[in-house]
Amino acid sequence: MASHNPSPWIYANIRMICLALLFMLLVEISTAHELSPAFYATSCPRALSTIKSAVRSAVAREARMGASLLRLHFHDCFVNGCDASILLDDTSSFTGEKKAGPNNNSVRGFEVIDNIKKQLESLCPGIVSCADIVAVAARDSVVALGGPTWNVQLGRRDSTTASKDAATSNLPPPTLDLNGLISAFSNKGFTAKEMVALSGSHTIGQARCSSFQGRLNNEKTIDSKFAKSLKSKCSSGGSGTALSPLDVSTPTAFDNSYYKNLLSQKGLLHSDQQLFSKGSTDSQVIAYSNNVGSFRTDFANAMVKMGNLSPLTGTSGQIRTNCRKVN
Ligand code: HEM
Ligand SMILES: *[C@@H]1O[C@H](CO)[C@@H](O)[C@H](O)[C@H]1NC(C)=O
Repeated sequence: MASHNPSPWIYANIRMICLALLFMLLVEISTAHELSPAFYATSCPRALSTIKSAVRSAVAREARMGASLLRLHFHDCFVNGCDASILLDDTSSFTGEKKAGPNNNSVRGFEVIDNIKKQLESLCPGIVSCADIVAVAARDSVVALGGPTWNVQLGRRDSTTASKDAATSNLPPPTLDLNGLISAFSNKGFTAKEMVALSGSHTIGQARCSSFQGRLNNEKTIDSKFAKSLKSKCSSGGSGTALSPLDVSTPTAFDNSYYKNLLSQKGLLHSDQQLFSKGSTDSQVIAYSNNVGSFRTDFANAMVKMGNLSPLTGTSGQIRTNCRKVN
């Protein structure tokens, strides 16, 4: 009997082969299909510092650009994932996202991304994706305006198509009530608390009158003096295009005054004030208004989560050389 048992030597070899297979599987999982902050550490070591200095100078020229770059990442990620689809110009084969209702005459920052892409293409041609540039630019913008920082996961690739209809149906309009906001974010895997934290982005940036005018005459949840001043601003500006800060108190500082404004009925958008209108998120708005540290932590974590929405990895998609066009 004993002579039929495989020798210990064979057991050791089977063990080694199994370990090697397991190791290869782990490497496959961790390198090919997941994002990592060190993705460009050897392929383009100066990528992150190049993006940071370009964002810093753009924000120094115009503080609002920080807000615009943050929003660009949000509008990219919520429409078929963070794949730079928002950057594609229309072609004969598809109508892109730029002219969809939530984006038309409103999303900005394309020139800043183009400028960064140009620098990176001369530094490390064909290496850094447009989707990663947008994700890093959003983080650097928040930092430039005094907000929290986070490690940006990297390794996203760029889409080869875009869809105007997908942009229209996935981006939440400012007319939504609390339930609509909660479900728009839960469709993307976010809790109501994360939705409240991400809405704190409206501590920076501007909105056109057309985005909030409906709220000025018909709603009780707005401070009357605040409404009056907005009405006069909107009636003097041409056809809904006049701008107002989303955070009336500190429009270029990434702080928690957005939540404090909501407590005094000074949310600019209907959707903003819905977060504090005797509903289930009131207590979270109060908590963030009292504790800037918890807002900063929750915001940073939610941004990492947003940046992980359905990225293209491995051999999916491509690294565009021009962010506006498929290669
Ligand atoms: C909760 C649902 C949200 C709604 C309904 C919403 C809606 C809007 C609207 C209507 C504007 C003004 C657009 C205009 O008039 O041109 C705006 C601006 C902005 N949004 Fe949101 N948003 C939401 C969530 C977010 C999130 C999650 C982020 C970022 C993570 C974000 C970042 C911004 C920024 C920074 C601006 C100012 C952009 C600039 O000044 O160029 N928003 N948003
Ligand atoms: C986008 O805005 C422009 C300028 O206001 C307008 O002429 C055009 O019809 C809008 N496009 C769409 C698709 O709504």
